[in-house]
Amino acid sequence: MVRQSPGGGRVRRIVAGVATVAVLGPLAWLWQDSLMPEAYSVMDMGYADYGGGPHGPSGHETHAAGGASAHASAHAGAHAGAHGPGAGRDVTELIADAGRPADVSVTMVARKQPFRLPSGRAFDGFTLNGQSPGPVIKAAKGQLVQVRLINESVPGGITLHWHGVDVPNAEDGVAGVTQDAVGIGKEFTYRFVADRAGTFWYHSHQMSHEQVRGGLLGALVVEPGPGKGEVTDAVALVHLYNGVRTVNGLEGDVRVEAKPGARARVRVVNTEYGVMPAWVSGAPYRLVAVDGTEVNGPAPVTGKALAVAAGGRADIEVTMPENGSPVRIHLGGPTGVVLGSASYDAPPVSRPAATLDPLTYGTPARPAFDPGRPDRRFEYDMGRRPGFLDGVPGLWWTINGHLYPDVPMFHVTEGDVVRMRIANHSGEPHPMHLHGHHAVVLSRDGVPATGSPWWVDSLEVAAGESYEIAFVADNPGVWMDHCHNLPHASQGLVTHLVYEGVTTRFTVGGSAENEPE
Ligand code: C2O
Ligand code: CU
Repeated sequence: MVRQSPGGGRVRRIVAGVATVAVLGPLAWLWQDSLMPEAYSVMDMGYADYGGGPHGPSGHETHAAGGASAHASAHAGAHAGAHGPGAGRDVTELIADAGRPADVSVTMVARKQPFRLPSGRAFDGFTLNGQSPGPVIKAAKGQLVQVRLINESVPGGITLHWHGVDVPNAEDGVAGVTQDAVGIGKEFTYRFVADRAGTFWYHSHQMSHEQVRGGLLGALVVEPGPGKGEVTDAVALVHLYNGVRTVNGLEGDVRVEAKPGARARVRVVNTEYGVMPAWVSGAPYRLVAVDGTEVNGPAPVTGKALAVAAGGRADIEVTMPENGSPVRIHLGGPTGVVLGSASYDAPPVSRPAATLDPLTYGTPARPAFDPGRPDRRFEYDMGRRPGFLDGVPGLWWTINGHLYPDVPMFHVTEGDVVRMRIANHSGEPHPMHLHGHHAVVLSRDGVPATGSPWWVDSLEVAAGESYEIAFVADNPGVWMDHCHNLPHASQGLVTHLVYEGVTTRFTVGGSAENEPE
């Protein structure tokens, strides 16, 4: 028998105990610290990042330590009162001209229900006016669009966000930031001027991961004005329902009539979570617009695919062959849109190996502003590390090294020229979407843009890439800036851009159960 001294055993127990505390203590603290309060204002989230510009009078101080004080103040009661009158303009004041009558008026009734897609396939999800995708909203540039949204039966509430339209902040449709989720039996009216011609889309921004997947979405087309449209103009909204790829809710090819010799514009909307290749056979094509902005001097392209960012749009224009042969636009696979008249027999071709690079496509133009002397410079550096997100251990996304919600809050003053470097060190691609603004791409991986000004609202940032973008802070509000791979957003790849003097009285969580991601 080996005699064990009682002392030795005690020492071992103490050592083990100390080791346990040493490991579990900090873990328990990290776990506890990561728990989200029942309700919190995004104004209290994370730490202020002034990007080298002036600090506003709002009193949201930077705290280098990250989480503690954000949580402390949120725990202390995130609380309508703290952001009430006196703290600044509330987002609800940032609206379109209230006295102006609507030019385009739409009522949308949202339901949760089993239904049939336009393809005939049964699907259990969400509808707008009985259908998914919802109706295409059409307006001419400069018109005031008014959409009355009624929630008949969607549990948990809904909103509509106008993806790519730089609406006044109160119309942005982000539950918990610009409004409360619209519960069953309630309604909300959106009003905005469609001041930019182009292709956009709308989707719910309440539990958006689940509701976008489930079909609460549709296309919005702003035409340039009377007589300026193409001869043929078609929307091609791509969405996966239960993993089945559809274009405008149809499986297989969508046929669009286009006369020989005519110009046709196909407005591709990628509502999916990943970048989508698109390619054309039967004629050269031009990439005439990206994210609702016309490309300057778009040259004809052959033998190259396009990459359409998740959440992004690409307007493809073709001139139909004089001999009447059809043209196929492949969207993410062999099927897509077939343009034709007498015949739609256009066999699929395989995807070209080369991809068009918007960094060098088109011809340069004088920029609308000078990004050379920015008022603010921000970093949006994405990474990944182990930690706790609301008490759940995992390998979570980071922004500038911080886990949600201890992420930077980008502060600007109206009129600022802002530069942002978006870098992706996370090992996975992220389609980045800033609400309320369009940004111009200055460079990728240090290589300057030399083509047409490349304006984006949805920018696919591949693993290992970094982009320098610039924009003018010309739309006051509190704006989300997040990954549009919506599961990533719900895993914390979200931050906000806030204007000095603007605040929000809405909270994430709370009685409206706002859950923007
Ligand atoms: Cu398309 Cu924050 O959304
Ligand atoms: Cu992502």
